[in-house]
Amino acid sequence: MITTVYDCNILVLNKIHNNAGNITVIESNINVPFDIKRAYYLYDVPGGESRGGHAHKQLYQLIVAASGSFDVLLDDGINKKIVKLNRPNYGLLVVPGLWRELFEFSSGAICLVLTSHKYDEHDYIRDYEQFVKMKLPQ
Ligand code: TYD
Repeated sequence: MITTVYDCNILVLNKIHNNAGNITVIESNINVPFDIKRAYYLYDVPGGESRGGHAHKQLYQLIVAASGSFDVLLDDGINKKIVKLNRPNYGLLVVPGLWRELFEFSSGAICLVLTSHKYDEHDYIRDYEQFVKMKLPQ
C-alpha cells in the first residue's frame, strides 16, 4: 500500500448550465478513473459529528459535496491533508490505502460517494495502528 495523500486530487466535473439550473454528469472511466459499482450518500449528519475513520485496501472513491460543505482529512501514515468540499461539480478522488475522516458538515450537507467496488467489510481497515503498520515499507 504505497499510495500517499498526494495521489488524491480534486476532479473538476462538467457543469451543464441553463437558466433552470445545472446538471453534472459522472460516468465510469470518463469523469472517474474506475468502473462505478456503487453509489451512496451521507445526509442528516448532526453538527459536530464526523464520519469515516477508516481506510480501504482496494476501494477507489469519488467524494462529492452534492449539497453544502464538509472537510475530508486524508492520511497516509506520514502525511496529512485536509480538503474542503463545497461545490457539487468538484469531486475528491480518494485512492486505496488512505485513512480518511469527514467532518465539519454544514447543516443539510449531502456527501455523495461513488465507488469502484460493492460494499465489502473485509476491504475496511478500521484500526488506525493496524493501518499505520500496513503502510510501513515491507
Ligand atoms: P461506514 O462505511 O462505517 O460509514 P462512514 O464511513 O460513513 O462513517 O458504514 C456505516 C454502516 O453502514 C456500516 O454498518 C456498514 C453500512 N454500509 C453498508 O451496508 N453498505 C455500504 O455501502 C456502506 C458505505 C455502509
